[in-house]
Amino acid sequence: MTTFPKNFLWGASISAHQTEGAYKSDGKGLSVQDTRQRDNHDIADFTVAVDHYHHFKEDIRLLAEMGIKVFRFSIAWTRIFPEGRGEINDLGLQHYSDVIDELLKYGIQPYITLNHFDLPQALEDEGGWSNRSTVDAFVHYAETVFEAYGDRAKHWLTINEPNIMLLVDKKILGKDIPLQEKYQQFHHLMIAEKYAFKRCHELIEDGKIGPVPNISLVYPATSKPMDNQAALYFNSVRNWAYLDFSCFGRYNAVFKDYLNRNDVSISFAPEDQELMENHFPDFVAMNFYTTVTVEKPTERDGMANGISDQQSEDIMEWGFYKGFTNPYLKKNEFNWTIDPDGLKTTLQTLYDRYHLPIIITENGLGAKDELTEDGKIHDAYRINYLQQHIEQCGSAIEAGVELIGYSPWSAIDLVSVHEGISKRYGFIYVDRTEHDAKEMTRYKKDSFYWYQTLIETNQLPS
Ligand code: BG6
Repeated sequence: MTTFPKNFLWGASISAHQTEGAYKSDGKGLSVQDTRQRDNHDIADFTVAVDHYHHFKEDIRLLAEMGIKVFRFSIAWTRIFPEGRGEINDLGLQHYSDVIDELLKYGIQPYITLNHFDLPQALEDEGGWSNRSTVDAFVHYAETVFEAYGDRAKHWLTINEPNIMLLVDKKILGKDIPLQEKYQQFHHLMIAEKYAFKRCHELIEDGKIGPVPNISLVYPATSKPMDNQAALYFNSVRNWAYLDFSCFGRYNAVFKDYLNRNDVSISFAPEDQELMENHFPDFVAMNFYTTVTVEKPTERDGMANGISDQQSEDIMEWGFYKGFTNPYLKKNEFNWTIDPDGLKTTLQTLYDRYHLPIIITENGLGAKDELTEDGKIHDAYRINYLQQHIEQCGSAIEAGVELIGYSPWSAIDLVSVHEGISKRYGFIYVDRTEHDAKEMTRYKKDSFYWYQTLIETNQLPS
């Protein structure tokens, strides 16, 4: 039996484009997620998603019944500024005000992500994150929502997983980006984040804000020294480059060497150094699904071999490291490795490095659930996954990590980034298929009741 601290923040998470639907309603503009070219047309897109835009009151009532203390959701930038900048869309602004009020009515704290993969298409047309002016548009958007909601919403997350956005750019942004441009985008994203830290602290009384990367600790495939070097580089490029920038205000040395070796040079605006060195987060929000294992590629591997698991795209980078299937880990039905022990190690490594409170804002199992005739979803596999990961959270806390909350993915079923609605993550089932939106009736899964008991008792049974 693991007991959690009294004020532990049990939560649940979603993003706007994967749940809301209503992609053109009430003045909303298009985002890169609405326009993204898809290789697979057999899966649902985001136009209707699970219609959370119209069901938010029902969804929040169910989540309140489950007992959550925090709800992590994102604002669709294009509901506030349909073109990314310019005229405010009042209906969009009102929508999230209503969402926040609804949460507060049940005593649920909002944890709001400013941007979750859905950059306004109008900004993308002008070069997206490659263009410095996107930083200015982002800052103005952030200031607008801080001012509109900061009296009620005190906890903010910046830009969801900039590391995954850049490492698997084709899948998330819909196009490949050359290396030089990719890391100029990195700089702009991270500077935008610095501005968000600054303006949140200036505009919101007691406002707290944190970065929200996807962290997967990188293991070396063997004890060969060069595999360990490969893991060092990939850890830096995938994980620490982002958090070192946020939390220490610098480009770390291994990452710099990586950029130099690839002839990448970043251009700084005059104000950047000051921003980097003076504005910091209050906590780190971390999304964790798995760990990654790499080895040093051999000559024979060249640039195109050795792709081995679900994270292959972000591993096959320019000869420094190559993905390796970790023989000690099991996989889920979508081929993602499962590593609960790795979660504890990741939490300890993160805390050791940054000494900041941590909240887990994503962790969960994507699975093909089945709705039975009598309206039940027996998702014992999800309960088992969550149980194992939450156990490791408890163990990390015992080991001295300041873990303040756990907000898994996802609160309700949503459309997966790459794999449609059949890959379900939620505690609440939404009845629709890839191509038939049906009535979208909500059903509580077995995991809903399991999580409800956990939150109520604050104890994880062994
Ligand atoms: C995270 C994203 O990286 O992974 C989520 O922040 C996403 O938006 C989640 O849904 C799971 O990935 P997928 O591809 O199964 O949706």
